[in-house]
Amino acid sequence: MLGSGFIGRFYADSIQGYRSRDKIVSIYSRRKESAKKFADDYNVGFYTTNLEEAIARPEVDVVCISLPNHMHEEAVMLCCKHQKAVITTKPLGRNGEEARRMLEAVEKAGIFNGYLEDLVYTPKFIKALESVQNGALGRILWAKSRETHPGPHSDWFWDMELAGGGCILDLGCHCVEISRSYIGKDIKPVEVMCWADTQVKPIDAEDHAIGLVKYENGAIGQFEVSWTFRGGLDLRDEVMGTEGTIWINSFLRTGFDMFTTGKGADYVAEKAESNSGWLFPVGDELNELGYNHMFMDMFNAMENGSSPKETFYDGYVVNCILDAAYRSAKSKQWEPVKLDIWRGKTGVTKDSHLVEFDKDHYLVKEEVTHYGAKKLILKNKTTGKISERTIE
Ligand SMILES: NC(=O)c1ccc[n+]([C@@H]2O[C@H](COP(=O)([O-])OP(=O)(O)OC[C@H]3O[C@@H](n4cnc5c(N)ncnc54)[C@H](O)[C@@H]3O)[C@@H](O)[C@H]2O)c1
Repeated sequence: MLGSGFIGRFYADSIQGYRSRDKIVSIYSRRKESAKKFADDYNVGFYTTNLEEAIARPEVDVVCISLPNHMHEEAVMLCCKHQKAVITTKPLGRNGEEARRMLEAVEKAGIFNGYLEDLVYTPKFIKALESVQNGALGRILWAKSRETHPGPHSDWFWDMELAGGGCILDLGCHCVEISRSYIGKDIKPVEVMCWADTQVKPIDAEDHAIGLVKYENGAIGQFEVSWTFRGGLDLRDEVMGTEGTIWINSFLRTGFDMFTTGKGADYVAEKAESNSGWLFPVGDELNELGYNHMFMDMFNAMENGSSPKETFYDGYVVNCILDAAYRSAKSKQWEPVKLDIWRGKTGVTKDSHLVEFDKDHYLVKEEVTHYGAKKLILKNKTTGKISERTIE
């Protein structure tokens, strides 16, 4: 494990938390006392403040990168050098260029690589995606994902150079991969329109943004991200298809509401802003946030010699989409997604959206009214004239 901070500890809880046979055997942290504390807490045999030493240990099968964004590339290159399988937290890089170098390096080195995008492994997401893939929503038209909270917990996130960006990069990476999964990861993202601003925090990076990602098949992805949202961690997805709709609230409303005056109150849930009054705790964060299913997929894939659901390639595509979002926020124009490496479909066109009614008409819609009439709205194929028929 590289990094003993916020996400390193979530990951460790997930990896070792359920009498698992997976074990952290080596921990790197910047400070010796943090490394030792992590080693004590998780019963890790070796701790160090030397990155390469932590990776090169012979008992290490796979390296889990839980380091600040500016250190991902250095850590990945060391994994390549020592031929260690590598899984890394999000975002893969601070930009598409960095992500591409990492992708090319792991593939050249021939090592297993996984991208730890936990939010496409939450139980709700897995079930929702299954329904989408079974056709329950028909053709996906729009997939929106929102992640907003009051801002990150460590200094380096707020430093543009170290983090690589603000909330677009930090939170948009989750949202983009969620929408992309619903729309189809083999469908090419073509262009992005994004608004971003620094509305509240005294920082150079954006603290609030909304973006639209257009896909080659005509579907639209949307992300809403903020470091200025008050009220906790708001994680919501909405998917709209020709045959159905999905709304998911992953964190603030999980069906667990609690009131307390604050007596005996402690930690409630990630980024919760209060521990008194009406609260929305989360039963099992490791599961609700997808960490358990994510590591299961990663380690199963490693053992089977297959690829996990999320690889460095996915991280690279996400970074390229976010690069276009940053360009658009500046230019105020739709900006193309520049993907030098694309492994999905090409030349996909918009599916026909016309529903045949009879040889002369397309069906626009049908509706049963409150007074019991069944109405049909039709469009004449040759004249284009719209008409209605009441059939009962
Ligand atoms: N849901 C998620 O997937 C999720 C959530 C939070 C963070 N992350 C990602 O995890 C990575 C680490 O974030 P975190 O929240 O654990 O950060 P953190 O600040 O809590 O921990 C960072 C760790 O890296 C080590 N480190 C080494 N060099 C450092 C440096 N120069 N500055 C700061 N720390 C240094 C620290 O010792 C510490 O153990 C980031 O890439 C972040 O985007 C992912």
